[in-house]
Amino acid sequence: MKRIKNLFPTKVFKYFSFFYRFLGASVFIALAASMMVAVLDGVGLTMFLPLLKVAGGDESGDLTAEMGDMAMVVDAIASIGIPLTVVSVLVLMFFFFSLKGVAKFFADFYRVVLQQRFANRLRLQNMRLLAEYDYREFSKADSGKIQNTFSGEIERINNAYRYYFSMLQQGIMTVVYVALAYSVNPKFAVIVAVGGVLSNTIFNGIYKRTKIASRQVTAKMHTFQGYLIQSVSSFKFLKATDLITPYRKRIDESIRSVESEQRRIGTMGALATALREPVTIGIVVVAIFIQVEVFGQSLGLIILSLLFFYRGLTSLVSMQSFYNSFLSTSGSIENMEVFIEELKSGQEENGKVVVEGINQHIEVKDLTYSYEDEPVIKHLSFLLKKNETIGIVGESGAGKTTLVNVVCGLLRPQPNMVYVDGVDMNSLDLHSYRAQIGYVTQEAQVFTDTIFNNVSFWAPQTVENEARVQEVLKLAHADTFVNGLPGGLNTVIGINGINLSGGQRQRISIARELYREVDMLVLDEATSALDSQSEKFIQENIESLSGNYTMLVIAHRLSTVRKADKIIFMHADGRYEIDRFDALLHKSATFRDMVALQNMQTA
Ligand SMILES: Nc1ncnc2c1ncn2[C@@H]1O[C@H](COP(=O)(O)OP(=O)(O)OP(=O)(O)O)[C@@H](O)[C@H]1O
Ligand SMILES: [Mg+2]
Repeated sequence: MKRIKNLFPTKVFKYFSFFYRFLGASVFIALAASMMVAVLDGVGLTMFLPLLKVAGGDESGDLTAEMGDMAMVVDAIASIGIPLTVVSVLVLMFFFFSLKGVAKFFADFYRVVLQQRFANRLRLQNMRLLAEYDYREFSKADSGKIQNTFSGEIERINNAYRYYFSMLQQGIMTVVYVALAYSVNPKFAVIVAVGGVLSNTIFNGIYKRTKIASRQVTAKMHTFQGYLIQSVSSFKFLKATDLITPYRKRIDESIRSVESEQRRIGTMGALATALREPVTIGIVVVAIFIQVEVFGQSLGLIILSLLFFYRGLTSLVSMQSFYNSFLSTSGSIENMEVFIEELKSGQEENGKVVVEGINQHIEVKDLTYSYEDEPVIKHLSFLLKKNETIGIVGESGAGKTTLVNVVCGLLRPQPNMVYVDGVDMNSLDLHSYRAQIGYVTQEAQVFTDTIFNNVSFWAPQTVENEARVQEVLKLAHADTFVNGLPGGLNTVIGINGINLSGGQRQRISIARELYREVDMLVLDEATSALDSQSEKFIQENIESLSGNYTMLVIAHRLSTVRKADKIIFMHADGRYEIDRFDALLHKSATFRDMVALQNMQTA
């Protein structure tokens, strides 16, 4: 019993539901097509028997008895009035095999169609889940894994799909051939079953090893992708310090370890393929022996059942070899299922209240926020009125970025801690809220495309839109350097804006946010990105924008926010002080020290 179960492991069907989720009933059409292929092939093969009869001029033998249940095919031909001659049988044979060819074309074509549909639906679903993924969950996630699952793993799953359905196709054909063999000669069915179970035992060990190696490949590819991403994003640093040499060694090791697992999969695959023929022939030889020596059956019956038998075994063995190939990629399905679950459980909760503008104020009320046990922000309260500017300063790690991430709705506060125009943040429809916010992040975002597209975010390049882009570039003090570039607005800026300075990138990012016509601007100024000239520009920027926008500005140089309506001075222990610049200077010794220190540095 266990043996029989091994022949069709139930786990195999667990994967079916994964594919079915994406494709629905169309998978059954594909399988029905495969069944048609085998049936037409069977009918075509059946024509050999009457052919042998008419060609040999043997009219005496009882054709029906020798064909078992398959005789109904011959009966059917006779009943529509086609005489059994060499020509008619040959024509019929050609006809059935041509039909089989058509069915085979459709079956294979449709499988490829479904395979692409499957991969694309998977990609679309993942992209949707990623877009709605909670930021906090994202920041905890392994970016190598995400990247790898989205690119390489989708390819592997695509292959898994192909192997899986080829396997099912072969499985169905096996069943059809066995059924045909059974209807001609029931004894053969028994031999097929026994032979199948025996060959399955041989292949089982191979499957087990393949599966383990497949999981290893997925895990190791995650690590490899992680290294790769980091070596690209930290290229400058790694290069400048030649830490790229030892770092490369780590990558090399990870490449090699993937290779050794892949080699194991290859070995197992080659073994499975090589064993195919001898195993099949072995079973056939035994079958002929039993047929002739034990049952003493006639040649015609043996030939037809052998044809089915051989076809059935070939299908069975190729099913097994597809199964093995499938297992070599099945690790990626397991990984994908876990990944999808993670994305699903980390989906952002979204409220219902649609935000059409920030019209009065954002109120932060006794906000405490912690990532782990110890709060990063403790009991913080302030009111940011429309068109007011609040500066946020404090030492590194004090929680400045955390605070603005909470205000932007990237990090979820407890209920009753943050209100937008009097509505609790947790009730907001975050898509509509964020559409009101311009956020220039600490690592100012530049996309690999033209300046025009970077600023307009791929708006149609009309004269009006170009004029608007120029206008916001001017507001962001980026017009001079952009117009100095050889391509002007059409200059392509490289991956991560490699050919722009940190300050220039920041100004492009500011221009993009201004173009979006948002209600609130959030600026997280990078400590290092700005030279003092750019710094001066940005300061002028902020001053010229303040009054027109609601602004939250994280500044590392205190002079940047000198003129802000209020300054939140955050301490590393979660305490904070809040007041105007001059008042803070007056009442806080630490603030005074910080200002003095910075003045010394600039002097
Ligand atoms: N996703 C996170 N998970 C756990 N801890 C975090 C996370 N993000 C930030 N922290 C911690 O929270 C604290 C505040 O970080 P935050 O980035 O808000 O500081 P910051 O004031 O913006 O610093 P900087 O001036 O260097 O940008 C730090 O101790 C940091 O280690
Ligand atoms: Mg920060």
